[in-house]
Amino acid sequence: MPTSIQSSSKVIEQIKLCSSLSDAANLASSCTACGLSKSRTNVVFSRGNPKAKLMIIGEGPGRNEDETGLPFVGRAGQLLDKILGSVDIDREKDVYICNIVKCRPPENRVPTEAERNSCKPFLDFQIEKVKPKLILLAGATAVGAILQTKSPISKIRGQWFDWPNGAKVMPIFHPSYLLRNDTNKVGSPKWLMWQDIKEVRKALDALS
Ligand code: URA
Ligand code: SF4
Repeated sequence: MPTSIQSSSKVIEQIKLCSSLSDAANLASSCTACGLSKSRTNVVFSRGNPKAKLMIIGEGPGRNEDETGLPFVGRAGQLLDKILGSVDIDREKDVYICNIVKCRPPENRVPTEAERNSCKPFLDFQIEKVKPKLILLAGATAVGAILQTKSPISKIRGQWFDWPNGAKVMPIFHPSYLLRNDTNKVGSPKWLMWQDIKEVRKALDALS
């Protein structure tokens, strides 16, 4: 069992000593490898089912997530659950949800590259252990961190990309973007999201 972390190189070192997701969550809970540790209330590691075939990766915790220690539980998270539910994907049973950074950036700013890099070993470990078949990247920060592309999300959302471990990865709009664009008109972000989630449903059905 690892002890605690003070620097980002130590995250990489210490995570090698973790054998389970709960070891890694424990390690994260006292992590001070980046400056986000100073202002957080709780480390937000994950929610959902670690055995799920579907994983969703967001940017970082907001206020509600920081308070509860759970990802995507605020307004954006509730909308996400509703979108998933519309194609019968259960928020507890059918999906594992986490973020690029596990601690809330002050004022919900975008996490810096250094913060993202510090936290990456946790995410890599989560992907390795959960072994999802399908990964959805919610919003530009998750897309940039995982696919290393600068293509705007409006161009690449809804497309499947191959991931080295055999998984398929799809960029989707961030649910908070949908909250700011609240129309269901054909071609609107919400409408596009519903097309994308139907594709995800099809891909899940094709796996089983
Ligand atoms: N936005 C995110 O990207 N992640 C959360 O957990 C909550 C809001
Ligand atoms: Fe550690 Fe990640 Fe939190 Fe930074 S954001 S302190 S690397 S858990």
